[in-house]
Amino acid sequence: MTKVSTRKPIRKAVFPVAGLGTRFLPATKAIPKEMLPIIDRPLIQYAVDEAREAGIEQLIFVTGRGKTAIVEHFDTAFELEATMSGRGKPLDVLDATRIQPGNLVTVRQQVPMGLGHAIWCARAIVGDEPFAIFLPDELMIGAPGCMKQMVEAYDEVGGNLISVLEVPEDEVSSYGVIKPGFRVSSTLTEVTGLVEKPKREDAPSNLIISGRYILQPEVMRTLENQGTGAGGEIQLTDAMARMIGHQPFHAVTFAGRRYDCGSKSGFVEATLELALAREDMATDVRALIKRLAAEIG
Ligand code: G1P
Repeated sequence: MTKVSTRKPIRKAVFPVAGLGTRFLPATKAIPKEMLPIIDRPLIQYAVDEAREAGIEQLIFVTGRGKTAIVEHFDTAFELEATMSGRGKPLDVLDATRIQPGNLVTVRQQVPMGLGHAIWCARAIVGDEPFAIFLPDELMIGAPGCMKQMVEAYDEVGGNLISVLEVPEDEVSSYGVIKPGFRVSSTLTEVTGLVEKPKREDAPSNLIISGRYILQPEVMRTLENQGTGAGGEIQLTDAMARMIGHQPFHAVTFAGRRYDCGSKSGFVEATLELALAREDMATDVRALIKRLAAEIG
């Protein structure tokens, strides 16, 4: 028998995309970092595809100055389509960019005050229902995708969920880190504490928050009076930490590949691996990698 969930479904997702992308300058001077392509799809497209696969209907982009290209990407480009049709070119390459009218909403984060503040900017659109968050820098590739795996876990345990993965101990200070509690299953663990960017010696584990969340709307009220934390910013991790004990919190270990596309080497890694996985490119790219490997020795 198919299991029918009685929990409120996850229909909305927030994408904080207001960041300046300084690590990729000068590429990101006039182009949002979320529009940098991995092969032929901008980063934001991968996150949106993952959201839709998980059944999410409404996309909420928290944007800032210079980010209009993201919204344009998900709009109909009439001249482009007319020209392509006139030349007999198929339009299906644009299918992933089509959004049901009314299902893309943008809100503005006027000042970069941190991830927690960015999420809080979406409070009126999120309203009183659980919602997902995607940090598009974190590229998650899996079958099913990361958010779909999380929604399945949510159907089991409800409450709040964070995707986590293990990193080497010398990397924990760049991330939010969980304190793991009871192990529910091989992929689901209770979260009993959270720390944003701890010193290596203070980190409660080497399990980091990897950029996907399912949160209850109460987080918005917690963020309302959240002071600044690590880096002088209003941190989502701090608000979540304050909710532990009041609401269920679980970590989902994602079965799949994760690429940190906020770093240049992560970006190259993602580009190569995704190219190898593509039928139209695999042969050429494999030959290229072999040649390079031989040259490096
Ligand atoms: C943010 C979160 C952090 C998380 C990370 C994942 O940090 O605050 O908890 O581990 O994303 O990429 P940021 O990369 O914005 O400093």
